[in-house]
Amino acid sequence: MRKFFVTGLLFLCSFIPKNNPGCNETKLYQIAKFPIGVALDPEKLMKDENYWKIAVNQFNSFTPEILLKPKFLQPSRAQFEFSEMDQLLTYCEKYNIRVHGHTLIWHKGLPAWMEKFKGSRQDWEQLMKDHIQSVIKHFKGRIKSWDVVNEAFNDDGTLRKNIWLKNIGEDYIEKAFTYATEMDKDAKLFYNDYSLEVNGPKQKAVLKYLQDLRSKGVKIDGIGMQMHVRLDYPDITEINKSARKIHEAGFLVHYSELDVSLIQKGIFTSGARALERQKERMKDIVKGYMELSEVSRFGITLWGVSDNDSWLSEQNGRARPVLFDSRYRTKPAYCGFLEGLENKPK
Ligand code: XIL
Repeated sequence: MRKFFVTGLLFLCSFIPKNNPGCNETKLYQIAKFPIGVALDPEKLMKDENYWKIAVNQFNSFTPEILLKPKFLQPSRAQFEFSEMDQLLTYCEKYNIRVHGHTLIWHKGLPAWMEKFKGSRQDWEQLMKDHIQSVIKHFKGRIKSWDVVNEAFNDDGTLRKNIWLKNIGEDYIEKAFTYATEMDKDAKLFYNDYSLEVNGPKQKAVLKYLQDLRSKGVKIDGIGMQMHVRLDYPDITEINKSARKIHEAGFLVHYSELDVSLIQKGIFTSGARALERQKERMKDIVKGYMELSEVSRFGITLWGVSDNDSWLSEQNGRARPVLFDSRYRTKPAYCGFLEGLENKPK
């Protein structure tokens, strides 16, 4: 009777979803030849065991998901809130984890006082300079790379009409990078945006704009391709071509916010086949990145530890775009990512 019970139990257990669908969980950052990052929520890191175990075991680069945005750093004018970030940095230093600073200048993540600010062009320049330089100064030597400007372009290649453009003028981007360099000449400075993985007017305009700035002597080290992609869009050849173009133009390449939504032909999809497709997609993306020269690989950063933590889940729980599921178990996409790093043939 007992034997029958145990056999029955084993039989049933074989139907419980396994943690490792097709591969053994390892430490991604140890396999990779470049940093593997994740968007990080420090509160979860401190409180949720599942979360911190994955964050620390799999990744060696953190991009604070919201903590370094002006809304949180400078909630009132000239009143900076650095303490939470300082704590996170102490933690990262203990575990030898790089922290990438995201983001100094953006049209979102702004405190109300900044959005409502009224002043001359000069006042605005001062406001931008104060923010950039106070933040960089505080974290100098601890945060060694920054997204200085985020999402400044529209899809058609024109400049986005954000508060910076309206109040300072077109050269706000040049000024932002110059202020950043003045405060920390050793920091790696990035321009970050979405849809740069498509060879379209936006990518062309961004590249030309940044190259022109460089030829004027402005220091811009790299480009963050956000990489919020889908199962079937953009095509992998497009993505790889874009990354190569950016690297050939002499910029570091950061896949800065990678997620692959379970969307195909414009609609959400689910089930084993969709997860398998997501796995192949992750593999192809990582493989393509591995083909860039070593010096230009700043790293690949996933935008969320698990599907539960992804910003896309706030909009639609069906996106399920990252490497761990909502119960913090590895997904096939994890294996795909790993296979890409190991460069396994099909
Ligand atoms: C998102 C965060 O993931 C959300 O938690 C937050 O509410 C809004 O910002 N592009 C960016 C990121 O550059 O800063 C955004 O992050 C996602 C899109």
